[in-house]
Amino acid sequence: MDKIIIHGGRPLAGTVEVSGAKNAALPLMAATLLTPGWHTLHNVPDLRDTRTMLRVLETLGAVWQRHGSTVRIDTTGLTGAEAPYELVKTMRASVLVLGPLLGRCGYARVSLPGGCAIGARPINYHLRGFANLGVSTTLARGYVEARADTRLQGGTIYFDKPSVTGTENVLMAAVTARGTTVIKNAAREPEVGNLVDMLVAMGARIEGRDSDRLLVHGVGGLAPAEATIIPDRIETGTYLIAVAATGGRVRITGCRPDHLPALTDKLRAAGVTIEQDETSFTVSCPEHGGRSSCPLQSVDITTLPYPGFPTDLQAQFMALMVLGNGVSIIHETIFENRFMHVAELQRMGADITIDGASAIVRGVRPERLCGAPVMATDLRASASLVIAGLAAAGETEVSRIYHLERGYEKMEEKLRRLGADIRRVRE
Ligand code: EPZ
Repeated sequence: MDKIIIHGGRPLAGTVEVSGAKNAALPLMAATLLTPGWHTLHNVPDLRDTRTMLRVLETLGAVWQRHGSTVRIDTTGLTGAEAPYELVKTMRASVLVLGPLLGRCGYARVSLPGGCAIGARPINYHLRGFANLGVSTTLARGYVEARADTRLQGGTIYFDKPSVTGTENVLMAAVTARGTTVIKNAAREPEVGNLVDMLVAMGARIEGRDSDRLLVHGVGGLAPAEATIIPDRIETGTYLIAVAATGGRVRITGCRPDHLPALTDKLRAAGVTIEQDETSFTVSCPEHGGRSSCPLQSVDITTLPYPGFPTDLQAQFMALMVLGNGVSIIHETIFENRFMHVAELQRMGADITIDGASAIVRGVRPERLCGAPVMATDLRASASLVIAGLAAAGETEVSRIYHLERGYEKMEEKLRRLGADIRRVRE
């Protein structure tokens, strides 16, 4: 396994371009199962997770080509409707093939994803949604078997919590159902809107984009489509926070500032200077060393469904608040075990106490934060440790960086271009 070595304490400067959103690419790739023919997806990031999704589609009989960031996928030759445990256990988003397979052929057999580092992550909302469309599901030997004896029937689905992939899965099953489907308390994340746009381009009829109530009028057939993956707002937010933590001035291009309202509000409250236009940020912050002219203000955050503060930026923001000038309360409401990065940050000198679903972060002087060997436990925790390593004096070694590669394209290369002393070594 590879690891990343960082010599921190250097401000970041220059320009970085954001890649396509992992959490949009995955559902849009799954949506190609809905109809035969060549689909074209632009701005697809080359990540461990997108490669896994391509392997899942291949297992189902699809063929694909990648030309740079454009991926073309043809599922005409669908040979099966089963997503195996070996693949699903490496990427839980493989469950996104359930909805399109049900919409395409009324049957699917997918391994239950099981839990992951950040929580149990059940898919009961997905299955209940399918049941309201006339699908019967049985669980046996770790697999869910979903079947509809006739064409799916439109129905009303209410999500107890606005589930992102739950909304996406039910959407993909409903677009060719007979009649109308209403999805209440739908997730409003931009990635759901990106999927709606692709489904509409395929011929689907969907109302309520970006709202918590989606109306789907079933259509008889769909055609392959061309779509563009939106910029990755979590990657964008990660770089914004990295500059705030190290000091410096960076221009972030190819992004959607309007997709990060909560983070930019909190960073500005913390004293970070942020300028933005429709497709780029310029973020700057004085260095935090002894010469700091304005220490970071400690601010509180509570993670919430979009447009609230994203849970996928909680770990990164915590790394920043380690350098705050007071106390920051970080309240995680989405996942039950998303503080795995705390123990690793504490090893670097952070002063953090966990109290149930909240972490109390007492800011320390920059010189208290010291590089150390740390271990990545999940995708966003690993980004948090990289940020802490960039800010800390001395050498930080982040092991198990396969977690990082799931969701960040060429991260060490992009950071090196911004002046970071960062390199990958084989462990
Ligand atoms: C998506 O996961 C993202 N993944 C996650 O990003 C993100 O953290 C999460 O949404 C929240 O924004 C993808 O889009 C591929 P949920 P998802 O269903 O859909 C509970 C990353 O780092 N729930 O919105 O799995 C669930 O336990 C990843 O890129 C049920 O109880 O999350 C959680 O508490 C991590 N039953 C809450 O709802 C269900 O059937 C929200 O989960 C489904 C969800």
